[in-house]
Amino acid sequence: MTRETAPAPVNLRDFEPAARARLDPAHYDYFAGGAQDEITVAANEAAFRRHTLVPRILRGQGAPRLEVTVLGESASMPILLAPTAFHRLAHPDAERATARAAAEAGVIMIAAMLSTVTIEQIAACGAKLWFQLYIQPDLDFTASLVRRAEDAGCRALVVTADSPALGRNERGDRNRFHDLPPGIHCANMEEEGKVRQVVLSPDISWRHVDWLKETTSLPIVLKGVLHPEDARLAVEHGVDGLIVSNHGGRQLDTVPASLDRLPLVAEAVGGTVPLLLDGGVRRGTDVVKALALGAAAAAIGRPALWGLAVAGQAGVERVLELLRNELANALTLCGAASPADVTDGLLGGVAWK
Ligand code: FNR
Repeated sequence: MTRETAPAPVNLRDFEPAARARLDPAHYDYFAGGAQDEITVAANEAAFRRHTLVPRILRGQGAPRLEVTVLGESASMPILLAPTAFHRLAHPDAERATARAAAEAGVIMIAAMLSTVTIEQIAACGAKLWFQLYIQPDLDFTASLVRRAEDAGCRALVVTADSPALGRNERGDRNRFHDLPPGIHCANMEEEGKVRQVVLSPDISWRHVDWLKETTSLPIVLKGVLHPEDARLAVEHGVDGLIVSNHGGRQLDTVPASLDRLPLVAEAVGGTVPLLLDGGVRRGTDVVKALALGAAAAAIGRPALWGLAVAGQAGVERVLELLRNELANALTLCGAASPADVTDGLLGGVAWK
């Protein structure tokens, strides 16, 4: 009897059905899902489809160089791993596999506070790390997390600001998936043998950002900025970088696509701080469009989880390799020598709905 094998994924989207076939259905839904009607989840990818690229020809640039420096950190390409919780649901090696893949690929991993192994264990895997933080109302505990991230070698703090409460994920309600399975927990929240409750608090405000500035000398990146006025406030409060993001459509539904907010945020900050973008990035051309609209780099969330579910470290590595190859190809076809060479002059406008 011959054993049939599924064709290997040839792009990031192919990884999703391959991951789905391996995952517990409730865990797949946790990763794939978004808030309520998932209008924003769909909008994120659709926004990239609407934008067109108009390549320049005969520029003789040779093969593009992909390296970038973001907030003083060099990376092999303008693509980061966005922070995503609970990697142990995707693979037994959990965040360690993701971190090893990031190290191998030379990209920055934003380690989620809600990881299923500790930040110290992730740091031991050798990747360039930033640490994502949900500021906890218990500021002493938050400060202790910041110290641990600093001591583990994280080079920036990413403060997720779009989560004063948890978004309403109805797939989770249907699956009754409200707790992690036995044996899996938020490893960073463990204290004296007990796991602390994670608090997403509507009391968190700019005052806490000011407090954090006093508490750490690490650069602070604010994640979840969509409104130009908030972008201006962030700069006023001394924030070092922004991530234009709607949390992959998992928080407030019917929020616009993050790509559609990027030019407004870019205009508001006028180049004072670097901008990153996440939400719906699935193709090399998506990265080019994000760069053209003002981002210094883009981040991927779900595609890395799909890679992790399919083949652990090797799966995440393959996802990054496919995206790297697509980005290099897209830049070459655009006549661009590097990410810095990408300007809005390459954009042909929004051509179709
Ligand atoms: C997330 N995201 C997220 N963000 C964050 O700041 N802290 C977190 O703990 C998580 N957890 C999380 C879990 C899962 C399963 C997903 C899919 C996403 C949001 C993430 O950082 C990023 O904003 C989006 O995932 C980007 O969109 P794409 O690439 O998934 O479309």
